[in-house]
Amino acid sequence: MDPFALDVLADPLPVDAAIREAAPFVWLPAHGVWATGHHEEVAAAFRDPATWSSAAGTGLTDIRRGETWRPPSVLLDADPPAHTRARRVMNRVLQPRALAGLAERFAAAAEEVVDDALAAGEVDAAVAVAERFPMTVLPDAVGMAPEGREYLLPYADLNFQSMGPPGVLRDEAERRGEGAREYVAWQMRREALAPDGIGAAIHAYVDSGDITPDEAALLVRSFLSAGIDTTILAFASVIHELARRPAQWAALHADPGLARAAFEEGLRFHTPSPVIGRTATREVEVGGESGAVVAPDTKILLMLGAANRDPRRWDDPDAFDLHRRAAGHTAFGAGVHNCVGQVIARMEAEALLGTLARRVARLEPAGGSTPRLSNWLRGFASVPVRFVPA
Ligand code: HEM
Repeated sequence: MDPFALDVLADPLPVDAAIREAAPFVWLPAHGVWATGHHEEVAAAFRDPATWSSAAGTGLTDIRRGETWRPPSVLLDADPPAHTRARRVMNRVLQPRALAGLAERFAAAAEEVVDDALAAGEVDAAVAVAERFPMTVLPDAVGMAPEGREYLLPYADLNFQSMGPPGVLRDEAERRGEGAREYVAWQMRREALAPDGIGAAIHAYVDSGDITPDEAALLVRSFLSAGIDTTILAFASVIHELARRPAQWAALHADPGLARAAFEEGLRFHTPSPVIGRTATREVEVGGESGAVVAPDTKILLMLGAANRDPRRWDDPDAFDLHRRAAGHTAFGAGVHNCVGQVIARMEAEALLGTLARRVARLEPAGGSTPRLSNWLRGFASVPVRFVPA
């Protein structure tokens, strides 16, 4: 079983299920790593950073051996206590109270995106809605300059493709990402950021001595790599599923307050970031009675997508149901590294899906959706739909 084979990336659920159902931990010889798709094991590994380290990188390759294309993240690729220091700054900058002012701007941007989609009637919602909305609101919230934003998606793609094995997807991302590294190296610096955005708020912690200028720049970089593609895929997946379930769209239209529930169920059902790596800091017995042992310095893949459909955790896991209690999904990770951007992601979801819910009476597929091929992300590249106004 190779979760990174191109045909598997196009249709990943059977291999997710095969890995999950084979054993709590499975050895994948193609990549020399262990994998687990059990919800319980995934959640436990996230909560034990002393045993399962992030410092070798959270992709397939070991960044300590120089197998990396950029300086490591001071957040994602760090363990406590170094991680704790950087994370404290991010937690303060991203606390809900500090972000409250964004809600109005997100709502206005959502109205504009939905207006245009309704005027067009039939659109590729993956691009015209799911991509356009975060591509507007997130760079503005961070305070990025207007010029150069065309590099954001190629950079994010380079970031996520590079977390998987070498091959055609990484090569293409390298080619498309030409110039993107230089752009990001410039945009993450203090002087390139608007004074009233989240990026400037991060750099302000340099003045108080909490972080160095280089650390501040790397924290800003994490927005450029982790904060856009993930939400784009999440929105495209929810729209894809709801367009195929008229009764659930009707329920959402009748009660737009369900927007958040639809988003969470979408994250469970099509987990945008379906695999996260960790590395054993010591010899770890993982196999229970089967006696499987992970050797020190060996990678394990936490299969979040598989865990989010684990029948041991979820009733009827392959049914999309916005009335389900999806809390407890692992799509945002858990433990010390749990997604620091989830407050923003949820604010975006409430603005965009809430506006769609109010303004769109019916949502219908206008053709088949196309999966996006990525080593490290999952969802749809194209979701043709027809919007019928309320
Ligand atoms: C639906 C959207 C999103 C999904 C599915 C998602 C998923 C994740 C996951 C699974 C992790 C855990 C990584 C690990 O444990 O190694 C994570 C961490 C992170 N996410 Fe998100 N994310 C989303 C949106 C965002 C946004 C909008 C931002 C920024 C504005 C962001 C920034 C980050 C950062 C900086 C981390 C590292 C946190 C740390 O290591 O302490 N994410 N995300």
